[in-house]
Amino acid sequence: MTERTLTIIKPDSTEKGNVGAIVAHLEREGFRIVAARMMRLTETQARAFYEVHRERPFYDDLVAYMTSGPVWPMALERENAVSYLREVMGATNPAEAAEGTIRKLYGESIERNAIHGSDSPENAAKEIAFFFPRTELV
Ligand code: CMP
Repeated sequence: MTERTLTIIKPDSTEKGNVGAIVAHLEREGFRIVAARMMRLTETQARAFYEVHRERPFYDDLVAYMTSGPVWPMALERENAVSYLREVMGATNPAEAAEGTIRKLYGESIERNAIHGSDSPENAAKEIAFFFPRTELV
């Protein structure tokens, strides 16, 4: 089933100049870019985006990190986009990610892990709407 998901290319990737390589990797894996923007998240935006993690001990660090540099949110379309992106992205901790996955190739720690990917179709819809009005999905 053709489906949409959300990725965010994170500040460690923009800092290291890995944006182009990551976009190329995603396109090679058959994802179509439906929407994209480059931005710097405000603290309020980062807190809201990661609201589900607010009770976790890493929440404040995660918010500080996600606001530390530019990010590239993108809506992606593909057959089984949500689960396939999670496969291509690899485990949250790059040290545990499979060979050839984006986090293994470009991540450096559980926090600086290159990209975000939605964890379910329901969250994908919410996360896409968080960054993009319907009219910007092409
Ligand atoms: P992401 O897919 O963006 O969703 C939540 C993020 O929290 C996750 O990627 C990690 O970067 C971060 N995260 C998850 N677990 C931990 C942890 N134990 N310590 C620090 N950061 C974490």
